[in-house]
Amino acid sequence: MTPDDIQSLIAEASQEIATAATPAALEAARVKYLGRNGRVQDILLALREAPPDRKRDLGRLANEFKTALQAAVDARREALAAAAAIATFDVTQPGRWPAVGSRHPVTQIIERAIEIFGQLGFVVADGPDIETPFHNFDALNTPSHHPSRDPKDTFYLDDGRLLRTHTSPVQIRVMQSRPPPVRIIAPGRCYRRDTTDATHSANFHQVEGLYVDRRVSMADLKGDLTYFARQLMGPDVKIRFRPHFFPFTEPSVEYDFSCHVCGGKGCRVCKHSGWIEISGAGMVDPNVFRAVGYDPAEVTGYAFGMGIERIAMILLGIPDIRMLYENDVRFLQQF
Ligand code: PHE
Repeated sequence: MTPDDIQSLIAEASQEIATAATPAALEAARVKYLGRNGRVQDILLALREAPPDRKRDLGRLANEFKTALQAAVDARREALAAAAAIATFDVTQPGRWPAVGSRHPVTQIIERAIEIFGQLGFVVADGPDIETPFHNFDALNTPSHHPSRDPKDTFYLDDGRLLRTHTSPVQIRVMQSRPPPVRIIAPGRCYRRDTTDATHSANFHQVEGLYVDRRVSMADLKGDLTYFARQLMGPDVKIRFRPHFFPFTEPSVEYDFSCHVCGGKGCRVCKHSGWIEISGAGMVDPNVFRAVGYDPAEVTGYAFGMGIERIAMILLGIPDIRMLYENDVRFLQQF
């Protein structure tokens, strides 16, 4: 065989392989050219019998023959497989919906709160989950015998620090770090030694609010909370204060939103009271200002906390707080 013979054999074989209509035809073509008794043997024979000065050229062509044809076989095999896959693919089948993620209900409420209070000029502040008793209790005017300090209620670390029981210590950290005025909200995790049930969790979230300036009043507190409630739950929502006690505010209130479901007439969501309890608030106690070096004769302020899970449950109709932590996609997909 001459080099020209080999070249035209490559061309012929490539053509045959590239047009093989079935896997069986392709395999027959492969055997015909590359098999043990295939045409490749003619080339190898010619190579063996060639005079030494021709061996180099022929050897190169023999290799070219093998690699070119093997590549052609592989390519054709793939093309045939792809064609077969398309032939068996049912183009009328309904598509599969990609699973689209969504934000967790707790995150959704926190983001709404940041947005709404942002419209009132509040900026987000942050503090650590592991707190000192000073920030969590002392600076917040909480007496040493106060029951909330009890290890039965609060998680303590061996070094005396604790898992914050509310977001109120962020008030202290913010006021320690800058002079008045301040207008912050602080969303975050809180921890209490509560037995888990449908409405309690040892780990939950609050959003803290703090507004300190000259002549901040209870009317500001009520107005701002009303604005928040209406943005969040609807334009007709009303707000009411009930007297309460917190060590760090004086006077202190608990505040309720009128039920957004029945409009205050009474229904299952509000347990027939017409009102939904949200959380605590009040005017910052002068002792708190003293603890952070603010002058209570110069400034006044209000503070509030709100339980995020509670708001999420009411707003989204979630009956059990534990559903918020189980990460069951069938639940999470609904929001
Ligand atoms: N920290 C209080 C609580 O966890 C709520 C609160 C915050 C009350 C700010 C008054 C002012 O219950």
